Amino acid sequence: MSSPLTVADYELLAEERLEPGPWAYLAGGSGDEWTLRENRTAFARWTFRPRVLCDVSEISTATTVLGQRIELPVVVAPLSYQQLYHPDAEIATARGAAAAGTAMAVSTFSTRSHEEITAAAPGLTQWCQLYVFQDRGVTREHLAGAAGGGCSAVVLTVDTPRLGRRERDIRVGFEVPSDLPLPYARSAVGDAAVNPADQFALLDASVSWRDLEWVAAEGRLPVVLKGIATAEDAQLAVEHGAAAVVVSNHGGRQLDGARATLDVLPEVVEAVGGRAEVYLDGGIRRGTDVAKALALGARAVLAGRAPIFGLAAAGEDGVRDVLELLGEELALTLCLLGCASPEEITRAHVQPAPA
Ligand SMILES: Cc1cc2nc3c(=O)[nH]c(=O)nc-3n(C[C@H](O)[C@H](O)[C@H](O)COP(=O)(O)O)c2cc1C
Repeated sequence: MSSPLTVADYELLAEERLEPGPWAYLAGGSGDEWTLRENRTAFARWTFRPRVLCDVSEISTATTVLGQRIELPVVVAPLSYQQLYHPDAEIATARGAAAAGTAMAVSTFSTRSHEEITAAAPGLTQWCQLYVFQDRGVTREHLAGAAGGGCSAVVLTVDTPRLGRRERDIRVGFEVPSDLPLPYARSAVGDAAVNPADQFALLDASVSWRDLEWVAAEGRLPVVLKGIATAEDAQLAVEHGAAAVVVSNHGGRQLDGARATLDVLPEVVEAVGGRAEVYLDGGIRRGTDVAKALALGARAVLAGRAPIFGLAAAGEDGVRDVLELLGEELALTLCLLGCASPEEITRAHVQPAPA
């Protein structure tokens, strides 16, 4: 292939470079993968209503998330076990994100520590993605590592009381190598738990709204709730003090049959009513996807697989390039919509596609 021009090009390169196990784990969803496909299809159900003669001589894609400036409204989503995709793992992702001027959420199942990431990518806005282990001591240590390691928010993922059944992984016999460094999980999972479902079985499925206070008090950082999929839970999130919510179905990897995130977004935006920031993830592959999410009320999106296709294909440069190409596609989309910045895009810039 000549130089990759799109996220889809990076996806092909990643598939070529990766062994079948890590590829299945990265690309797959749960069950019939209906929700995985829906996340993408939902973007095609909206069309644009471009405005003209708006002076779009200067376009900025910059915005803020939780008060931090980012150069494009695309944050790198938390994604586990990144050493499977490139030897530089989360360090390369962090440097790529920093070079593109955006933030990164780092998984509980990261293969590098927050401290190592901060040292390698100074200035990066780094968030700590939290899963709560049954052994609260492990989670307490993780939260201490997050605050001490330079994180400015905790992203509590709430859609994973058990792991969805990922049949692609089972078919290829995917296992997490037992020597993978897992600074925030190894003490809980030991050396024996080699498939992701066994590792996730050590999480605390009893976590409920009451535990949010514990997370906020232990972490002493703003809490973002990731995995909100209804107006009811968005309302509860705000009542329990969440600084932001991420409309997410875990990239189609948890409850198969759950609605596409873009379909959920409007009811969450309405329920939140400006009392917290609203982000969306799932299926972001184009700048036009980002624009549609913003038009329907998201402040920013998170991208999971897209930057990791870049990581697998070309390390730090690949991550940066994927993020920059999403930024460039968004800038062009904004310009052609008649918007000089993300703040100018509104619900009036989109309408449902004809049936
Ligand atoms: C391989 C893989 C690993 C993931 N690991 C985590 C994780 O550790 N924590 C988490 O909150 N979400 C995790 N996610 C979900 C992502 O954060 C995000 O919700 C999802 O990837 C968004 O969909 P997209 O990949 O289509 O952008 C993972 C997703 C993938 C594909």
